[in-house]
Amino acid sequence: MRLRVARIPEELDWPRRGTAVVIDVLRATTVITRALQAGAAEVFVCGEIEDALDLASRLEPRPLLAGERNCEPIAGFDLGNSPREYESAMVAGKSLVMTTTNGTRAVLAADGFPRILAASFNNLAAVCRHLEGQTEVSIICAGTDGAPTEEDTLLAGAILAALPSGEGRPVSPGPGTPEREAWDLFFGHLSSGLTLAERFKQTRGGRNLVAAGYDDDLQECARVDSTTTIGVIDPDGPMRFRHITP
Ligand code: MLT
Repeated sequence: MRLRVARIPEELDWPRRGTAVVIDVLRATTVITRALQAGAAEVFVCGEIEDALDLASRLEPRPLLAGERNCEPIAGFDLGNSPREYESAMVAGKSLVMTTTNGTRAVLAADGFPRILAASFNNLAAVCRHLEGQTEVSIICAGTDGAPTEEDTLLAGAILAALPSGEGRPVSPGPGTPEREAWDLFFGHLSSGLTLAERFKQTRGGRNLVAAGYDDDLQECARVDSTTTIGVIDPDGPMRFRHITP
C-alpha cells in the first residue's frame, strides 16, 4: 500500500488515485461521522455559506443546514458544528447541507479521487479496516486556517501506524516527510501519558474550541472507536457523504 499525507489541502500535489481520507478531527469529519451514525441520510458539503444556502434551496424536501464559522453556529442554520447536537431525534432520515471553516473545504479539495472517506478518532478502526488491501491511500488533513494542526496530523499518524504497507510489514516513513511527522507525533502521544482530549487542548484547533467554550466537544471527538460508521463520497456523484458500515 502506498500511503501519503497532506498536512493541509495545499500540500496535495500528487495524482488523485485510490482513496482519499479526509481528516478534520475538531470537528467537521467527527460531526459528519456522528450525523450518519445518528441516521442522517446524507451530508452534502459546501465551501461557502452562500453555496450551502443555494444548494439547500434546490433540494426537496428541505434539508437541514449545518456548520460553523469561527466555531459558532451560523445565523439561520439548523445545526452548529458540535457533535453533541447530532442526535437521532434531530437528524435521522434527513439530508444535511454542511459548511465549515476548514473541514468541508478539505473535502472539496479531495474532489477527483475515486473515493473519499471522512475519518475521525470515533471511527478509526473501521476506517483502517476499510483501507486494508487498498493500493493507494491519500490522507488529507484540513488543518486550521491554512496551517497544519496537530489533532489532524495525530490521527493521520494513528492510521499510518495501523496499516501494513504490504506483505505484513508496517509502514516505515522516511525522515523529513509529512508521513514521518505524523508517525512521530502519534508515537510521541502514546508515550506522553496524556489522554487524547488533554492532547487536543494543546493543539491549534483545540485551543480555538476551548476559547469558544466547546471544551466538552474535545471529549466527544476523543472517543476512539465509538462507531463503525464511515461516511463515503462515491465517484461521479455530488459531494455528498453517505453511510457505510464495513
Ligand atoms: C472547521 O471546519 O474548521 C472545524 O470543523 C471548526 C469547528 O469545528 O469549529
